[in-house]
Amino acid sequence: MKKIISVVGARPNFMKVAPLHKAFQNYKNEIKHIICHTGQHYDEKMSKIFFEELEMPEPDFYLGVGSGSHAEQTAKIMIEFEKILLKENPDLVVVVGDVNSTIACALTAAKLNIKTAHIEAGLRSFDRQMPEEINRILTDSISDFLFVSEKSGLENLHREGVDPKKIFFVGNIMIDSLVAHIAKADNSDILNQFNLNPGEYVLATLHRPSNVDNQENLTQIIDALEEIGSIKKVLFPVHPRTKNNIYKFGINNRINGNIILTEPLGYIEFLSLIKNSALIITDSGGIQEESTFLGVQCITARSNTERPITVEVGANHLLGSNYEKIKNTAIDILNGKKKKCSIPALWDGKTAERIATIIAKKI
Ligand code: UD1
Repeated sequence: MKKIISVVGARPNFMKVAPLHKAFQNYKNEIKHIICHTGQHYDEKMSKIFFEELEMPEPDFYLGVGSGSHAEQTAKIMIEFEKILLKENPDLVVVVGDVNSTIACALTAAKLNIKTAHIEAGLRSFDRQMPEEINRILTDSISDFLFVSEKSGLENLHREGVDPKKIFFVGNIMIDSLVAHIAKADNSDILNQFNLNPGEYVLATLHRPSNVDNQENLTQIIDALEEIGSIKKVLFPVHPRTKNNIYKFGINNRINGNIILTEPLGYIEFLSLIKNSALIITDSGGIQEESTFLGVQCITARSNTERPITVEVGANHLLGSNYEKIKNTAIDILNGKKKKCSIPALWDGKTAERIATIIAKKI
């Protein structure tokens, strides 16, 4: 029996590991699949609700590391994860995405000569100011299996000289969760709860340090949302980091009734809100992909994206954090000037199966 430990830590990890856990159940007699939660995200609305909604079992290990500076958080995860690896001695560690838990656990495993698989490998924003870009580059460089979600990932890894035998183009695992749960989202009551009509509101999320830790950028985006809110309702579920900074910078005074602020929402509710929105304004990585799959117009408040397929074939508009650009493009879109959109290759709900088949054969 082979033993595999998959790591989750932050909100965007849960919807990537849930389908993998399910796919490994088809190999029950060969593979024991263990889930380790680092505790990078710990609030009920940032973590627990996702386990319930995605029907994931309780994690086998919970490291409880919590928040901290990058060095503190990464180091704490490594110290705690090393103990688990020494105890369990798995045949493979699986990490997903680009958060601090991803690099911390990949590095810990690599140093113990334990094989590592990275799901969502090869994505590059070419912006090393982003902590996630550092996490992506380092994780890819020490992983043994690189599972790629879009063609830019293949190009990047080839250009970086990675051994092609390590690279597998499998599609987007997060879309597996979307496909599995969209019917439930269709039954959600969340639009009623906020008094919203399908196609008649804008959905906003912000949490990137470059936007929300910077007073000037956060003010410009909030001002744009206020302005857009005078045309269509804007629903804004607020990440804890963003909420802290809105108050710290005194920007709460600029929110005058056109923006509906709410706590972070669960996965099913959020899918329903994406699917039915007229427009999304975000700086998230995952939401660029979810909106692409659902054919919804998306303004990304960043100047680059590690997911260029969402601009090439999706309806993603990359605009940075400039007030005028966001406001004007949003008004154009709401007036009907929409980008055409199609679904990228292998975003078909079967990525986890492909990954499980490859892993079962190779370990
Ligand atoms: C992390 C990821 C980012 C991902 C995002 C999704 C890194 C470097 N960043 O950013 O890539 O897109 O998750 O949300 O790993 N906090 C809470 N409760 C929580 C979690 C966080 O209050 O459950 C607050 C704390 O004040 C914390 C801050 O949010 O200091 C930031 O949390 P952290 O995990 O460091 O980074 P995120 O901004 O969430």
